[in-house]
This record gives sequence, structure tokens and C-alpha cells, in this order.
Amino acid sequence: MSEWVSVLNYLNGDHVNQSALIQGGAGGLGRALVDRVLESDRFDRVFVTARDSSRIVSEDPRVVPIALDLTDDASIAEAAETIRTLTNHLHLAITTAGLLQDDATGLKPEKKLGDLTRSHLQRVFSVNCFGPFLWYAALGRLIRHRDPVIIATLSARVASIGDNRLGGWHSYRASKTAQNMLTKNLSLELGRTNPNAIVIGLHPGTVDTNLSKPFQAGVSPERLFTPEQSAGYLWDVLLNLTSEQSGQVIAWDGQAIVP
Ligand SMILES: NC(=O)c1ccc[n+]([C@@H]2O[C@H](COP(=O)([O-])OP(=O)(O)OC[C@H]3O[C@@H](n4cnc5c(N)ncnc54)[C@H](OP(=O)(O)O)[C@@H]3O)[C@@H](O)[C@H]2O)c1
Repeated sequence: MSEWVSVLNYLNGDHVNQSALIQGGAGGLGRALVDRVLESDRFDRVFVTARDSSRIVSEDPRVVPIALDLTDDASIAEAAETIRTLTNHLHLAITTAGLLQDDATGLKPEKKLGDLTRSHLQRVFSVNCFGPFLWYAALGRLIRHRDPVIIATLSARVASIGDNRLGGWHSYRASKTAQNMLTKNLSLELGRTNPNAIVIGLHPGTVDTNLSKPFQAGVSPERLFTPEQSAGYLWDVLLNLTSEQSGQVIAWDGQAIVP
């Protein structure tokens, strides 16, 4: 029996106070993942974060909205402290934060090296890479414990060095590649004390959200997933994980992505 099946059994069993955390739960995929996690009926409490927590609209009493901006250390510390006052352990923690482009500030994925700017690199790395792992660091004992726990960070296939045939999108690709290294490092670190800790990156496929809207032209309709469809695939990936997969990036179809 795989470790995650035993995690699943654990979450289905007599244990109480099972808590999940979805960072970015007002975003395209984040919102669909929150719904999927609630539907699973495995968690007593689901902490859901957004920069503007009033965007987390749910009638479900298990949902606890939390304000969190991953580019702000004070916000990270405050959100982690709020969760600590409400639970001792998290059993599922997902971060969905992602920045690819931003019309308001003219941030676009770079086509060539000459398009690189320090400020865009810093912004994209800050959201995609620094943010999730500073957040996990702040969570401390909420994720560092001996219970089964899954820590999943939304990554992207374009972060694969081995699979990179097109180039471009420098900041986004590189920030997610660096994110994948931190995933691997955290998997090794937590694995030393908790064999039931699984740390992974997830590639959701191409999903119809604000992030992908400007880049959907060449995507065939059957390869453009709705957020609900992708969240369903990712949930199946989570259900079938084994501890041997900890540290990897897994795509929506369950296949590992080459680093
Ligand atoms: N859509 C795709 O085709 C696709 C493909 C591969 C990978 N991904 C990855 O999937 C993840 C989810 O993306 P999506 O498609 O759902 O896009 P989205 O709807 O634009 O969601 C982006 C999320 O990032 C959050 N975010 C941005 N800046 C943040 C900050 N400073 N602090 C905290 N959160 C911040 C947003 O939170 P707020 O609600 O607070 O703004 C939002 O929840 C991303 O990591 C993305 O890279 C998506």
C-alpha cells in the first residue's frame, strides 16, 4: 500500500481535526481546488488565502478565509500566526500563486534575452518561487510533524530544462525551475524526520484562467482545460501519490516531468 493511500486512510479514519490549506484560493485554479478539497469531505477545516480575503466567498463553515500576500514578509508572518492559533497541524498545503504577465505594469513574458529587466525578474521570482517557500518556512511546525502531510506547489511544464525546446519566457520559466529545486530540497529535508511527508510540484495542464488567457491561441480545445477539469485531474494525482514521488513535479495526467 502506498504512503498516500495510507494518508488517505488516515484522513478517512477516526482522526479528527484534519486541516487543509489552499493559498491563492480566489484565483482560477485555486478556487476550483478549494471546491474539490471541500467535496472530498476529508478535512474539518480548509484555510483559504487570497491577497484580498473578501474575494473568498463560501457558505461552507469549514472555510476559514485568510489574507496573504506572498511578496510581503509581515503578511506571511501574520497569516501563519493566525493559522497557528486555530490548528496544530496541516495535512494538505497547496500553493497556487503564479505570475506570468501583468497588463497594469507592462509585465510580459520575455521573448528574448534583451527583454529581461531586473524589476520583472524580481517580481516574477518573488511570487512564483520566493513566496511559496517563505510561506512554507513560516508555517514551521504546522507542516513539520510526524502525521501524513502533502505539500504541493503549482509548477509548470515550461520549467523543465530537459523539455525546453522553444526558449523564451525567461523569468517565468526560471522562477518555476528554481521553485522545483526548492520542492526537491524540502522533500529531502522533511523526509528525514517524516516518511509520510510528500512534497511535490504539480503541472495543471493548460487551463483557461486569467494567467493563460493571452496565450491560448495555439491550444487545441481538447487540451485547454476548465479550472474544474484540471482540479479534478490534480486531485486524482494527489490521491495516487506514493512517497517515492516526493520531490518530483507531476503533471495533471500523473506523469512525472523531466527536471
Ligand atoms: N493556467 C495555466 O494554463 C497554467 C499552466 C501551468 C501552470 N499554471 C500555474 O498554476 C497556478 C495557478 O494559476 P491560474 O492559472 O489559476 O492563474 P490565476 O487565476 O491568475 O491565479 C494566480 C494566483 O496567483 C496568486 N498571486 C499572484 N500574486 C500573488 C501574491 N503576491 N501573493 C499571493 N498570491 C498571489 C493570485 O492570488 P490573488 O487572488 O490574491 O490575486 C491567484 O490566486 C500558477 O502557479 C500558474 O503558474 C497555470
